[in-house]
Amino acid sequence: MTDDDPGTAADAGENASDATGGSGTAVRRDRFSGGPAREFLSSLAADAAIFEADLAVDRAHTVMLAERGIVDSAVAGEILGALDDVEAAGHGELPDGEDVHEAIETAVIDRVGPDGGRMHTARSRNDEVAACIRYRLREDLLAAAEATVALREALVEVASEHTETVMPGYTHLQPAQPTTVAHYLLSYEGGVARDTARLLDAYDRVNRSPLGAAAFAGTPFDIDRDRTAELLGFGGTVRNSTDAASSRDFLGEGATACATLATTLSGLAEDLILFSNKGFVELSDAYASTSSIMPQKKNPDTLELTRGVAGDAIGEATGTLSLLKGLPRAYNRDLQRAHAGVFEIAGDVREATEVAAGAVATADWDEAALADAAGEGFSTATGVADLLAMGGMPFRTAHEIVATAAEAVADDDSPEAAAAKVDEAARKVTGEPLSAYVSREDVESVLDPGASVASRDSAGGPAPEAVAEELPVVEARIEEDDAALATARDGLAAADETLDAEVESYV
Ligand code: ARG
Repeated sequence: MTDDDPGTAADAGENASDATGGSGTAVRRDRFSGGPAREFLSSLAADAAIFEADLAVDRAHTVMLAERGIVDSAVAGEILGALDDVEAAGHGELPDGEDVHEAIETAVIDRVGPDGGRMHTARSRNDEVAACIRYRLREDLLAAAEATVALREALVEVASEHTETVMPGYTHLQPAQPTTVAHYLLSYEGGVARDTARLLDAYDRVNRSPLGAAAFAGTPFDIDRDRTAELLGFGGTVRNSTDAASSRDFLGEGATACATLATTLSGLAEDLILFSNKGFVELSDAYASTSSIMPQKKNPDTLELTRGVAGDAIGEATGTLSLLKGLPRAYNRDLQRAHAGVFEIAGDVREATEVAAGAVATADWDEAALADAAGEGFSTATGVADLLAMGGMPFRTAHEIVATAAEAVADDDSPEAAAAKVDEAARKVTGEPLSAYVSREDVESVLDPGASVASRDSAGGPAPEAVAEELPVVEARIEEDDAALATARDGLAAADETLDAEVESYV
């Protein structure tokens, strides 16, 4: 048998004669079974990741073959019983083979005899492996998406405790404008919410069955593609058989969704590393690490590793797309190298997401240190310019006055002293005192970081009331995503049960 042919009864016969004569149990003809490239050709070890997937795919395919009368029910029962056996023995006990598909088929033939070879009727390893990859990856994407929802819940929970906790906000790593811990954390909820959406989107496109495409060109057998899709919990089929067997864009999409999430996480991790360095936040011991030599150290290692995962994830996404680039239709063996890394990175990114959620949920924000730093670097300057502009001055003139004052204002100036410097600057720039536009008290009051935050109550802004309005909206969209994920989970579990019950009825 080669996969250059769709699986046919004739193939099965060929397998069967291999299985009973000559090489004993090997599915492949001797001509292709050895040689110096054997190891290089084999994906059997890496295929441990799709061992369970392949068993499910074999079961669904066999059940469908029996239902369509392509394989006798009694033979189907024997094949399905053998698959249970193979599963119980585990991936490590599989006979040698070029890949898990071949090894499982060999193991089935070992148990059932030549009729075991009927399992590969009306399919090829090409549609089989594509189904296995999709079956496995959808689980990885679902788990990653679930982790994003948990992270969003943690962000919102901590945010709701800190709507009034004023902190410095930075641009270019320099103090820019005061904000609040709540507003800062919700900014990441927004990013991670889009990551959830990207993962769910990718999930929908991954969750389509390619089974029945055979090598790429369909099969003469009267199969039911929708039935195997249903038994495996897929949301539908990839209809065009060449597209189904050969396309792997879903791997690029899954890897990219993971890399984008990892990139979001890396920013959050970097911020928290910087904030803990400044003493604004303290990680729980459970999310910190110590030094083997320097006893005083408490290092944010979990966050550094989280930041690091983004590098691997971007590499994986780039590597996947590079591997796929320029591949002709239909199947090429390059594809064997395309998926294992994507499963792995999806797992790593999920883990990083879970760790980030734990770190956020357990970290302690130092409100006094944050309040002290919130006004540093004349961070309320924009508020003063806004006040002057609201008093009727062109904003550009106000900007110039405050920029002039900024050269004189010091961190330890009292509001009165700072306001006096703004007044002086106004006289210098316009020839008029501040009082021509605003009262001195109003200027003094916007120089307070808390008042500055409270004044910025535009929609989505950091003022505590604006954040309070936003919180229920954010909570509702988290619940919506949580429900969508639960629906997907339930769908998979229900399909699993149906498949189990069908298998039971034959064994
Ligand atoms: N192990 C192979 C893979 O992962 C299975 C498909 C083999 N098909 C073939 N035509 N050689 O891609």
